[in-house]
Amino acid sequence: MKTRFSMVENSTMNGCDAFVVIGAQYGDEGKGAQVGNLAAELSSRGKCVIGIRSNGGSNAGHTVYVNGLKLATHQVPIACLYVGDTWGLIGPGAVLNLTSLRKELNDLESKLGWSVVSKLFFSPKLPVTSAVHVHLDSVNVANLGSTAQAIGPTYEDRVGRRGLYTVDLFRPENDLIAMLEKLYAFHGVTRETPVFAEMLKTDLANFGWFCETFSRHLIDPYDFVASKSPATLLIEGANALALDNVDGGTPYVTSSCTTLGGVISGSGLGTHALRHLWNDNFELIYVMKGSYTTRVGTGTLVTQRDDEHGDKLQKLGSEFGVTTGRKRRTGDLDLVQIKHMMSRYLVPEHTVLNLTKLDISSAFDTVDVCVAYESLPEHTKNYPANDDELTHVKPVYQQFPGWKDFDFSTVKSYEDLHPNVKSLIRFIETYLGVPVKYINLGPNEGQYIIKQ
Ligand code: GDP
Ligand code: IMO
Ligand code: MG
Repeated sequence: MKTRFSMVENSTMNGCDAFVVIGAQYGDEGKGAQVGNLAAELSSRGKCVIGIRSNGGSNAGHTVYVNGLKLATHQVPIACLYVGDTWGLIGPGAVLNLTSLRKELNDLESKLGWSVVSKLFFSPKLPVTSAVHVHLDSVNVANLGSTAQAIGPTYEDRVGRRGLYTVDLFRPENDLIAMLEKLYAFHGVTRETPVFAEMLKTDLANFGWFCETFSRHLIDPYDFVASKSPATLLIEGANALALDNVDGGTPYVTSSCTTLGGVISGSGLGTHALRHLWNDNFELIYVMKGSYTTRVGTGTLVTQRDDEHGDKLQKLGSEFGVTTGRKRRTGDLDLVQIKHMMSRYLVPEHTVLNLTKLDISSAFDTVDVCVAYESLPEHTKNYPANDDELTHVKPVYQQFPGWKDFDFSTVKSYEDLHPNVKSLIRFIETYLGVPVKYINLGPNEGQYIIKQ
């Protein structure tokens, strides 16, 4: 489907040259679709686009339609999936799982029919997952509902200053073996341990593949961006605000900094991530499901619906994790959760919302929205400090009339939306204090409108 409106030209941020796309809920809001729409439009205009990942790793699962092909990405920035002057860069705030990357590149290339490898670059300071981390993450899978991608253990070893970085992978094999032996030993795996030989074999094979495939692809992010100037930065947030390792509901969070704070350090570009080189323009886009919420893995979902309504949301929304295939739990839209995190990461005049999946709620007569929490602990004014506290709050709802059977595929402009959709949109804007700009009409490429 053709893009109905120009994201770039009809933008209040005309000439915008840095877009930052961040999930506002518990992940899977539709970041991939938004990044894909931006990449498609920018590349079709002949712009140089640099897609950047600055946090997380193969725990992310982003869905995007490119020329009618449904693609799933995990570590590869979506900009790489478009022909033209498009590039991908994985910054030092992310982590790199080579087993996963190899598989992802194979899957993408077999579907696309061309190689994306030449478009993909890495910070030399990017932490690398070892087989020992995969081994360790099984504990997190059981206790924290992790995606089994070794995200936690890889970050732990970065913080503990034990881990390997992409730059290390180019060292002589003897050095690498010594580094790995030290790392394994820290985790209790020695030459005598039965898994040792297999781990070493896996790691060395992965490292060898990386060095062969990407021998000239390590570059300081700042230098990379400078070499492509003028380029548009398309920063693709992974995971989401409520999973942030610092501000999220611990312990059921991920291990990276998922916020705008993480973008600054994790892209390797500092504040240039926002004010790209010599130009001041940028747009911060928070993606959220406009009429419900989902969560996959462990952790409280205050508005969770374990009823027929929740089942229907799960089925109609095809709510399954892209990385793990697990069923996502579903619940009503929780504006308290979104506001709590988003309000501390707003950039006035530059922040907009992208609402997704409003079409899924065409199955219902009404839409319930959580607008306050009751029974907050004494010491917490606005929001519970961790997941345990979150389990005690009671959601307060405001009910909105729905848009039963409304067909979003007929919508060509904001005016065509059902009046009840528009009422909810106005409410969301007022509650969150952020304007809605992008409204998805479905999952496919170009299926969105821009609210002027
Ligand atoms: P991400 O992790 O934020 O990139 O999101 P995922 O790809 O994990 O999950 C979002 C799902 O919603 C994907 O299957 C998208 O194709 C789909 N999607 C995005 N926007 C819409 C929309 O407006 N309507 C519908 N029905 N699906 C959408
Ligand atoms: P995208 O980018 C949904 C969740 C996991 C688990 C917790 C910790 O697709 O929105 P981890 O493997 O990071 O140690 O798991 O975080 N989680 C996500 N949930 N979407 C994601 O990414 C997620 N990334 C992590 O389910 O509960
Ligand atoms: Mg996802």
